[in-house]
Amino acid sequence: MAIRQLPDRGNSMETFQEILGQKMTEALDASGLPQAGAVTPATDARFGDYQSNAALILGKQLGENPRAIAQRILDAYDLWDLCDPPTIAGAGFINFTLRSETIAAHTGDLLRDERLGVEKAATPKRIVIDFGSPNVAKPMHVGHIRSTVLGDALARIASFLGHEVIRDNHIGDWGTQFGMVIYGWKHLLDRAALERDPIAELVRIYKETNEKATSDPKVREAVREELVKLQAGDPENFSIWKETVDLSLKEFERAYQVLDIHYDIQRGESFYNDRLPTVVERLLKSGIAEVSEGAVCVFFRDIPELGEKPAIIRKSDGGFNYTTTDIATVDYRIQDLKADTVWLVVGAPQILHFKQIIAIARREGYTADFRHVTFGSILGEDRKLMKTRSGENVPLRDLLDEAVQRARKIIEEKNPDLSESEKVDIAQKVGIGAVKYYDLSQYRMTDYIFSWDRMLSFQGNTAPYLQNAYVRIRSIFRKAAVAVPLWGALDGANPAKITLITPEEKSLALKLSQFAEVVPSMLNDFRPNLLANYLYELANAFHSFYEACPVLKSEEPARSSRLGLCELSARVLAKGLDLLGINVPEKM
Ligand code: ARG
Repeated sequence: MAIRQLPDRGNSMETFQEILGQKMTEALDASGLPQAGAVTPATDARFGDYQSNAALILGKQLGENPRAIAQRILDAYDLWDLCDPPTIAGAGFINFTLRSETIAAHTGDLLRDERLGVEKAATPKRIVIDFGSPNVAKPMHVGHIRSTVLGDALARIASFLGHEVIRDNHIGDWGTQFGMVIYGWKHLLDRAALERDPIAELVRIYKETNEKATSDPKVREAVREELVKLQAGDPENFSIWKETVDLSLKEFERAYQVLDIHYDIQRGESFYNDRLPTVVERLLKSGIAEVSEGAVCVFFRDIPELGEKPAIIRKSDGGFNYTTTDIATVDYRIQDLKADTVWLVVGAPQILHFKQIIAIARREGYTADFRHVTFGSILGEDRKLMKTRSGENVPLRDLLDEAVQRARKIIEEKNPDLSESEKVDIAQKVGIGAVKYYDLSQYRMTDYIFSWDRMLSFQGNTAPYLQNAYVRIRSIFRKAAVAVPLWGALDGANPAKITLITPEEKSLALKLSQFAEVVPSMLNDFRPNLLANYLYELANAFHSFYEACPVLKSEEPARSSRLGLCELSARVLAKGLDLLGINVPEKM
């Protein structure tokens, strides 16, 4: 079969997966077969770059020999200009091997594209992402890492894909715990301790009050009265409440700065407080809620998985609760913020709660796309929930400090000549990056064991390994006679002409083209770990390339082409890590 000219791909930045998938659709049509299967990256590079299982599926469906069907499809498949002639393997897989020229031309396009080939979503959504959401008067602890880091990564990815993202911190700043906090404030507060470490002092007075209340009914009653007074708007209790909230917010803000996390809004539970009576009245009126044993409840008799237990939205003592607040939160996000999509990044223990909230929203006629994005736990070396020696939750602040200190020690050993300010900067990026990446590189539903040694290792699927790959590429450019800045010199007027000679160059270039396939796929099931895996494979492809192919010592035109591959690798690594909330240093 004659090889035709390379197609003019114009400015279209379609991915290879899209092009091959489209051609497959056409071929199935042309050969009178129904649509089936998918084109995916090859599971084994020896058989090609992409594969389709269409013939296997159709073989089963139609009761025909899949290899014969594969041949029928290929007879109608018009892509010889992109690929070597496709082959049929095994029971009837169709394998595609892209021509080096095809990949080289695409790599040149990517070097000229700021978005690295990633197209914006065809239908941009307005997405509220509820993540982090710690509780006031309690320290942020290791358990907050997953929601905070995962929510932030999803927000970054969704924004990059062109969605309008509203990051909302649904802080727990209202509720029955304030009876204890206010009682403790009035009877047990040590002002000096509060100045030194506000959260520790708040936790202390809360705990001591709790102990007293357990053993002494008079304290229990006093605590209840403080709460009732707060809810009735008593000025003294209100100002104590306000002070504890402000102290906590300051503490949270410090953690967010270290983590480089930003919120668009922080609507805590208290924000919804005066909307709660209306919510309950409305639900009673519409018949969605009913009075049962003095409480106002919503039953889910038609939804077996929600069980017999109703959601209580007003207790028999007249008080509202977490559920009532979340119903008001739905109103606010849909009606005021005009969101069409809401992602709730909250741990698995709240699955039932959010199923109830979403079921109620549906009954109220809300059609928005609500997703509860859950995740597993972080465990200690003993495989139990991670705790300090004395059995407390590990404070996030201590954990982040330790991450930076440990990173600094490693960096000082590796590169003692760095200046002090460089060390500070790198330790921050490596330490915090390691904690975030270790979390995001796991499938979110599985529990994982927190391990400093593994997350800070310079080998394996870790942030330091990827940051180091980036740094190595940047040092190539520093060594190059002509300094080539990132995001610049290879663009525009003088694009590098990419030629892919060795198999290592071809695999690296193919990997680079797949960034645009991986990024959108992450939102299908909220899986940043797919991006992490991709970046790890990319770094490995880069190292194989770099071992096999001299860059600065090679002759033109290979030299420019290889520098182009280096440049694009650095960009994709940096952008990929940025989407995970991780910064890259220029040296380390
Ligand atoms: N503050 C809650 C907790 O720590 C999480 C809030 C999640 N968001 C929500 N809309 N309920 O469990």
